[in-house]
Amino acid sequence: MDALATDTETPCDDSLDDAVRRGCEGVVPLRANLEPWMKTLCCSSNVHDWINEHGSPLNVLRTDPLTRNLENLNRVAGLHDLDFRVYFARKANKCLSFVDAANDAGAGIDTASLVEMTQVIERGVDSSRLICTAAIKDDTLLRHCVANGVTVAVDNLDELRAIKRIVADSSSSCSIALRISGFEHDGEKLYSRFGFDVDDVLNVIQKNLTDDVSGSLTIDGIHFHLDGYSAEQRVSAISQSLLIIDAVKSLGHDLKFLDIGGGFPMSYLESESQWMRFLDQHRLSLLGQRESVTFQNHGLGLLAEDGQIYGRLNCYPYYQRLVQADWLGQILDSSSEDGTIAESIRRRDLQLRCEPGRSLLDGCGVTVARVEFCKLHHNGDWLVGLSMNTTQCRTTSEDFLVDPIIMHSSQDSRSTGADGEMEGYLVGAYCMESELLLKRKLRFPRGIEIGDLVVFPNTAGYLMHFLESRSHQFPLARNVVIGSDGAAALDPIDHA
Ligand SMILES: Cc1ncc(COP(=O)(O)O)c(C=O)c1O
Repeated sequence: MDALATDTETPCDDSLDDAVRRGCEGVVPLRANLEPWMKTLCCSSNVHDWINEHGSPLNVLRTDPLTRNLENLNRVAGLHDLDFRVYFARKANKCLSFVDAANDAGAGIDTASLVEMTQVIERGVDSSRLICTAAIKDDTLLRHCVANGVTVAVDNLDELRAIKRIVADSSSSCSIALRISGFEHDGEKLYSRFGFDVDDVLNVIQKNLTDDVSGSLTIDGIHFHLDGYSAEQRVSAISQSLLIIDAVKSLGHDLKFLDIGGGFPMSYLESESQWMRFLDQHRLSLLGQRESVTFQNHGLGLLAEDGQIYGRLNCYPYYQRLVQADWLGQILDSSSEDGTIAESIRRRDLQLRCEPGRSLLDGCGVTVARVEFCKLHHNGDWLVGLSMNTTQCRTTSEDFLVDPIIMHSSQDSRSTGADGEMEGYLVGAYCMESELLLKRKLRFPRGIEIGDLVVFPNTAGYLMHFLESRSHQFPLARNVVIGSDGAAALDPIDHA
């Protein structure tokens, strides 16, 4: 496969940022955060060749932003003098290049299934640097954890009993972390389906693990993962976990770590004001006070009735002010009974662990798809058909609220729309009326036509793989990884 090259006639650098984005914006724009490599890619003639070779859509990835994001977390923890290890939650992207990059940078890996775990071990990651957080752990998975010395984050009593049985049957040992939930925050209990209740976990240990203080099952840590992105909720959960750790230690267990899970926030968008304006204009359109900004005035989780808006926007917060390492820093600097959270962790001689997935992959990938038709609907909207389906750039979020980028196939002026400009929606390959690749209405100032490429920026975390399906027997998208020298190759997952 050809190395990434930019077209010499259209040199691309930061000064051409506007040029890269000129081909498309939402009717209410939401400009993407773009890494320099993404801008270079969007000016490269190779991408059309790659799509011809590998099909559409194609995921294009780089691992160096992950290394940078990881280093930033390590730096903040270092400034707080903490023993710290990141476990990359690889469920967020299946490509093995990210496992290699995280491993090379000294991180551990959070695995959520048997296949995820065995692949990681086959890549040569030391199994002492793995944790298994699978939501459902059958005996086969647990036996693999025990056989390979992988720490298990235990969710419930049945799982604990199964591990005890497996360990006894195989005369081996197992390192476990107890997952806990139900923390109190702002006078309310935080709901989770996962883990032991914070008010019950000591009881569980006393009843089920007292024989094991120096036995074959060692409680090495306490683990939690919270839904959402609140730093304040993490502070509450850490403070309550530390009290539990004290109590568990007093029962004779030598706990070594606290794992605070993932959910580190990130921003997909360049501008807070654009995000606020979108939220505002979307509400106005639901109230009928402006033309629609989403397909058939889709509420994205909101509902307008009698001049009021009800419900909650069911979308990732695509712009967030405090993200990644700064967010971690704020948590560590928050006050606790010892001064700060960082001091409380240090005083207990604990290793702080975390399991970010999405935010470690910030800047790591784009999804590219080819335009196969443009159709003017009788209602005046253009429908732009891509060889791609909705599962190939989607999470449980109602929509991916980021403007795509258009790579025109030729420099000719477009002739499709009235004065070249077109407005409408991107539609996908599944046979449903609702098969909208983005629900937001888009504007194409220079038009758009067959053979053009649509680039969805920053899709490496979850969006590429979490929901991808082979419905209609379409093949899964391939994954091309660009090295720091520009060389491009399929990720090993595509050979698996
Ligand atoms: C236990 C656990 N750890 C880590 C993660 C990664 O979370 P994120 O990708 O939001 O950082 C998840 C996500 O669901 C999780 O369930």
